[in-house]
Amino acid sequence: MTDRRPEPQPVAAQIWKRDFPYEAAAEEEVTRREFARYLVAGAGALALGNVGLAAWTQLRTINEGEPRAIVDAASVEVGGTHLFRYPTDADPAVLLRISDTEVVAFSQKCTHLGCVVYYEADEHRWHCPCHEGNFDAETGDVISGPPLRPLGRIDVETRDDGMIWALGRDTGS
Ligand code: FES
Repeated sequence: MTDRRPEPQPVAAQIWKRDFPYEAAAEEEVTRREFARYLVAGAGALALGNVGLAAWTQLRTINEGEPRAIVDAASVEVGGTHLFRYPTDADPAVLLRISDTEVVAFSQKCTHLGCVVYYEADEHRWHCPCHEGNFDAETGDVISGPPLRPLGRIDVETRDDGMIWALGRDTGS
């Protein structure tokens, strides 16, 4: 009895090689298909990197700066502001006393192109004169103008000694 199992069929590339048995110049170098594969793999790696970076910037909440006494609370009237520098001497900041018990503080640098913002009491907002950017006085959120991000918030508290302390600048926003 004879073995009638079918012969293994050559794949298309082997058939092509058998029918046209010549060597092309640079045949061993990267083929178009391999090049496309590398491109897809590279694009995939870049996309994954971007997703990871976006997730990291969304999740991080890093506070900059050491706790430091800023000013005697009694010397800032309600509706008044006090300029200071935080977390370093190169970082202009400003605090606003909203009420007897509430104080907020922000970096004075506009999040558009870095001009200095100041408090407009009649509008109860932070205003940037460079391109007419406006921010909410109490939250620092953008109200209008070209800025896309809120002002950098500085956590503050009034302590028993009557001093307003800066506790750290939130860099997570
Ligand atoms: S720098 Fe503040 S609005 Fe442009």
